[in-house]
Amino acid sequence: MDNLLSPFSAQTHLHDGKIHIILAASGSVATIKLPNIAKALGRHHNVSIRIIVTKSAERFLREQSLEQPSLEALRIVPGVEAIYRDEDEWVYPWTRGDPILHIELRKWAHLLLVAPLSANTMAKMTMGMADNLLLSVIRAWDTTGTVDSTFKRRKPLIFVAPAMNTAMWNHPITGRQIEILEEDWGVNNKGKDGWVSVLRPMEKSLACGDIGNGAMMDWEAIVRIVEQYIGVQPQGGISVSG
Ligand SMILES: Cc1cc2nc3c(=O)[nH]c(=O)nc-3n(C[C@H](O)[C@H](O)[C@H](O)COP(=O)(O)O)c2cc1C
Repeated sequence: MDNLLSPFSAQTHLHDGKIHIILAASGSVATIKLPNIAKALGRHHNVSIRIIVTKSAERFLREQSLEQPSLEALRIVPGVEAIYRDEDEWVYPWTRGDPILHIELRKWAHLLLVAPLSANTMAKMTMGMADNLLLSVIRAWDTTGTVDSTFKRRKPLIFVAPAMNTAMWNHPITGRQIEILEEDWGVNNKGKDGWVSVLRPMEKSLACGDIGNGAMMDWEAIVRIVEQYIGVQPQGGISVSG
């Protein structure tokens, strides 16, 4: 856990031998899967997790049911080093030379997993907006892999798992935004050296009663994809620490 008396500095963690994951949630019902994802990734002894929630996401984790513990309860999950809300950018009165939280988190991270990615945060992300902590980290991402190259061997990726109502998903604006994420910024797009991987939603009966596409990919499948990427599964994968 961090020393709360001083601001977080990436530098002090850069050579801890761990894989640094920012696990973020924006305001979708699928935020209730965040505890499961944190626990599953935290099982790996070489994984270190910092959680970011948007203001809306925070509302889904207020101990209102067994599957919705408080955010504070996640502090004791092995591997979880810190939990951040927007206000944390401003906890320490900033003076020149002080660390800036969203930049420090960017430097620290080997990957960012946004699960769930709400329609609102997806729209803002693709527009380049940065009006909260999560979006500031995303906007400041090292998209070329050159800014933080002295302490990271490979370009860090952003995995996003959209989750929204079927009608929201079917809206034409969604297609345009997915196009930006997959075709312009996508990591697997031919010939382009992107940094975003979209974990596409699935079809099911949604929490709101509608049936159709838009539900977040199964959280276990998300975990498996991340595990494979960071190389903590028996079949191996890509090592991102360095
Ligand atoms: C109970 C409830 C459930 C919601 N579920 C979703 C959802 O699954 N996906 C989504 O995109 N928005 C959902 N919303 C709307 C978002 O929370 C809202 O657009 C919010 O502004 C998102 O903010 P954020 O992107 O900063 O987290 C839901 C709202 C409520 C009240």
